[in-house]
Parts: sequence; structure tokens; C-alpha cells
Amino acid sequence: MRPGEGSCDCLLLIVTAVLMLSMRPPGSRASRIIGGHEVTPHSRPYMASVSFQGEHHCGGFLLRPRWVVSSAHCFSDRDPQTGLVVLGAHDLHTAEATQQVFSISAVFMHPDYHPDTHTSDICVLQLNSSAILGPAVGLLGLPRRPPRAGAQCKVAGWGSVSDFEELPPVLMEAEVRVLGLDVCNISWSGQLSPAMLCTRSGDRRRRGFCSADSGGPLVCRNRAHGLVSFSGLWCGNPKTPDVYTLVSAFVTWIRDVVRRAPHGPQPRTTGDPAGVA
Ligand SMILES: *[C@@H]1O[C@H](CO)[C@@H](O)[C@H](O)[C@H]1NC(C)=O
Ligand SMILES: *[C@@H]1O[C@H](CO)[C@@H](O)[C@H](O)[C@H]1NC(C)=O
Repeated sequence: MRPGEGSCDCLLLIVTAVLMLSMRPPGSRASRIIGGHEVTPHSRPYMASVSFQGEHHCGGFLLRPRWVVSSAHCFSDRDPQTGLVVLGAHDLHTAEATQQVFSISAVFMHPDYHPDTHTSDICVLQLNSSAILGPAVGLLGLPRRPPRAGAQCKVAGWGSVSDFEELPPVLMEAEVRVLGLDVCNISWSGQLSPAMLCTRSGDRRRRGFCSADSGGPLVCRNRAHGLVSFSGLWCGNPKTPDVYTLVSAFVTWIRDVVRRAPHGPQPRTTGDPAGVA
């Protein structure tokens, strides 16, 4: 049966309605991260919020009491001396008793980070003092090997819950699945490099990260397997799968940075030898 003119109009209406539903208006609290939900408060005690001028900018995770791992692009056009790292937070807009605030003594950017290709999008932050570990502040470990395609993981962040840059006050998380890099590379027209990791929604809903989730960890089996790096223009769009930095490819580099860094009183300069100001 061929559709008549009437049913064409009808289809157009349905398509428009579906588009409008997925593009929630600013101020709507109905959608979370993208297709996610609020975390149980402090169930992800390794989550770090990096802020500039009092505004949440990026995520990260606590690796050691004095060390946070994040994405390099979070610092590519920022002066780290003006940044703050907040640990132990759930609601960033509230002065919670669990929160610990640090300034950044040094940012170690990966020497092979390239903003154009997003390769080696990783950095390590040294805090001005050590965090006090407890129920709301804890460490997250590094992976031994990459996760297999199809593995179930979670991404968390204080980033946008819609395409309208709407920031939630509380930490959100979404469940996603690892997508094979070959398949992902095709979606991204061959622009991906080997030390990357992609995820997709496990079902037909849009699900994943959005702006200001950058630097936050993709956690699979309680290890930091990915760092939020980049995605398409529309958050959660399956045509441009979410891309992360593959942490397992940088474990040696991270350990070297931490081991070689000077301890004791911190210099005010950032990043020697691999850092930038
Ligand atoms: C570290 O930085 C924070 C935020 O600037 C500050 O409140 C705290 O006193 C500093 N700690 C030390 C040991 O300097
Ligand atoms: C992605 O595809 C391009 C073009 O075929 C290729 O040069 C590149 O090596 C691929 N990347 C990965 C990670 O396989």
C-alpha cells in the first residue's frame, strides 16, 4: 500500500514531535547527564570537579591523595593557577561538609596531546596538598588492559543534561557499552587513533556524556578505563559515538609523572618537564 498525501503529513508531524521531545527545553530537569540519572550521593568518591571562577568546568578522578587524572583539553586554554579541584561533592551548589577544596600546584599535560586530532587527551594534576580519604573521598585504580567491546561501563559527571548546556547541580551517571574501535572509527570517518575508546547507548535511547563532563572517568569493573574526550555536536547522538582517552595506553606515563614529581613544598610554576602554563 502506498502512503497517500495525508499519511505523509502525519509522518512529518510524528517526526517533528519526536525531535521536539528529544530536545528538551532549558530549565527542564526531566533528562539527566544524557539518558542517565542522579548517583547515590558519594557512591563515586573518586570524582573530582575542576572549576574556574567558581564555575564547574571539567571532571576528573582521584588516583592518589595528591593526584587527579583528567583530560588535557580541559586545560588547553586555562591558567591552572586560577583553577580549583573539589573532592567529596555531590551537589556542587551547596557547601557540603564532605567537600575538600584544593588548588592546583602543577598540570602535567601529555607531551603528545594534539587539540586538532584529540590524541593523547590526558593530563595529571598535582594538588596543593593531600586529600583526606574517607567515605566521601576515595581513590580509583588504573586498568591493566583495555575493556572488551560490549563491556558495560558507567560514565559520571556534573556536565550538561541536554544540548542546551543546562548544568545539573548534582552528580549524574549513565550506563553505556563499549563500542568496537573499528566500528566507531567508521562513524567518525576514520579520524580516530588507537589510544581511544568509544561507547554507545545499550538501547535505543540517547545516552552518554555532554559538555563539562570532560575529563571524568569511564568506569568499568571499578577501574578508570576512559576519560571523557569528545563527541558530536548533539550529545548522545549514536551517529557520532562518544570518544574517550584509552587510559590503559597511558598507565606507564601516569606512573612516571607521579613518581618523578617533586614532593614536599610545591613550586608555583606548572608542568616541568611535560607541563604547560
Ligand atoms: C590548598 O588550596 C586550598 C584552595 O585554594 C586552600 O584552601 C588550602 O588552604 C590549601 N592548602 C594548603 C596546605 O596550602
Ligand atoms: C581509522 O581509519 C583510518 C582510515 O581508514 C585509519 O587510517 C586509522 O588508522 C583508523 N584508526 C584506528 C584506530 O583504527
